[in-house]
Amino acid sequence: MKNLVFATNNKHKLHEVRELLDGVVEVRSLEEMNLSGEIPETADTLQGNALQKALWVWERTHTDCFADDTGLEVAALGGAPGVYSARYAGEHCSFDDNINKLLAALDGNDNRKACFRTVICLVEQGVPRYFEGRVDGMILTERHGAEGFGYDPVFMPDRFAVSFAEMPLEVKNRISHRGQAVRALAEYLKTIRP
Ligand code: IMP
Repeated sequence: MKNLVFATNNKHKLHEVRELLDGVVEVRSLEEMNLSGEIPETADTLQGNALQKALWVWERTHTDCFADDTGLEVAALGGAPGVYSARYAGEHCSFDDNINKLLAALDGNDNRKACFRTVICLVEQGVPRYFEGRVDGMILTERHGAEGFGYDPVFMPDRFAVSFAEMPLEVKNRISHRGQAVRALAEYLKTIRP
């Protein structure tokens, strides 16, 4: 089976994506490639960041690889935190800090509409190709559940009565932004290598 390096230091994401690409490609972690250090993500679009992260690996390994970048876009906040979702509450902030800031920003606001968007950049032989996924939902007024990571405890996808953090991983993966983007990547990989 083909190997692809996944440019992430996030163990939750690595686990999610390995589940999704099981049987399609062998997903290698940065650790397995002896790569360490913070991967830069200084672009101002999801696509730009995904490309930057994938190229960081490509330039060091010359191995085919991919990276994803995700943003939580909240309607009442004009699409914020968007591409800045990881550092919404400041440099080196925790997932909890980000949720606290988000809940405070929406305090008393009835418009809780939000979506997660993911862009994946696959770099094969140095050439980038993009795959996207999106899930719509709403921001809850308090945390629910202990699964997942990031904003999962306060995001409830449309047509569900529970947050992402209350769902088993298989269910989140079936509907999530990253699930859709990774499935699009998987379809492409299967088409070029049936
Ligand atoms: P990243 O740049 O793709 O790592 O994502 C930016 C930020 O979005 C992360 O630090 C998380 O806070 C958040 N995020 C990304 N994916 C998810 C998810 O599946 N659930 C909840 N939050 C997420």
